[in-house]
Amino acid sequence: MNKFVGSLFRLLKGEYSNAWKPRWSSAKYEIMVITAEDIEKFDKRYRVNLINALTGFSPANLIGTRNRRGKPNLAMFSSLVHIGSNPPLMGFINRPDTVARHTLENIRETGTFTVNHVHQSFLSEAHQTSARYPEEVSEFTVTGLTPEFFGEFTAPFVNEAVIKIGLRFREEIKIELNGTHLIIGEIDNIRIPDSFISDEGRPDLERAGSLVVSGLDAYFVSRLVGKFAYAKPEGFAERLE
Ligand SMILES: Cc1cc2nc3c(=O)[nH]c(=O)nc-3n(C[C@H](O)[C@H](O)[C@H](O)COP(=O)(O)O)c2cc1C
Repeated sequence: MNKFVGSLFRLLKGEYSNAWKPRWSSAKYEIMVITAEDIEKFDKRYRVNLINALTGFSPANLIGTRNRRGKPNLAMFSSLVHIGSNPPLMGFINRPDTVARHTLENIRETGTFTVNHVHQSFLSEAHQTSARYPEEVSEFTVTGLTPEFFGEFTAPFVNEAVIKIGLRFREEIKIELNGTHLIIGEIDNIRIPDSFISDEGRPDLERAGSLVVSGLDAYFVSRLVGKFAYAKPEGFAERLE
């Protein structure tokens, strides 16, 4: 039985809702095989561009902090990762602190930080925060983004961001392999327009315009292409959207 007939058969049996979806086939491409040895020989820039993008799209976020003298700092980070929901934890990877790393130092000093989803309306300002400004220069001032403070929480939020999260520093894990640091925070507060969160608690990231990034320079919007029921081993999960 060829693939087409097989898919049709499965579709008729109601087993397989993806039967008519276009499939990617490697048959018509020359495949480049890159080995660990090749990677070692690549020029630094080429290697960074390649390896940084290989995990797939990452969330584009601005992390806001203040140092112990109260000076606000803002920088772009894409390595944000969900650690667990109980307690509600998020982490991110900070580059090695062999040179000054203001976000990292401020979090160690003051114990709080904010994560602000990047939106298209302030993308160039957000990208500019990745430049290495001296400590006394605040990225809020140079980019014109507006710091915003709520109650006792000491770290600055980005007023222009649609979704923003305030976190308390919980743990730092040094990754000995390359000297990077996993910084873990516990969520203290979340700020999101109430119509952007479903009755079941799902934030609508597409509507909020939260951007994703490939590598360190190319930003994209996201679009829903499927939503499914919880997958179980018996049969395919129901397609909800
Ligand atoms: C799209 C993008 C994503 C980035 N993601 C990270 C990241 O996950 N971790 C990191 O250490 N630096 C990341 N950077 C680099 C920081 O933004 C940059 O080092 C910045 O100067 C850090 O500022 P700070 O010293 O004020 O913390 C990223 C840069 C860009 C443009």
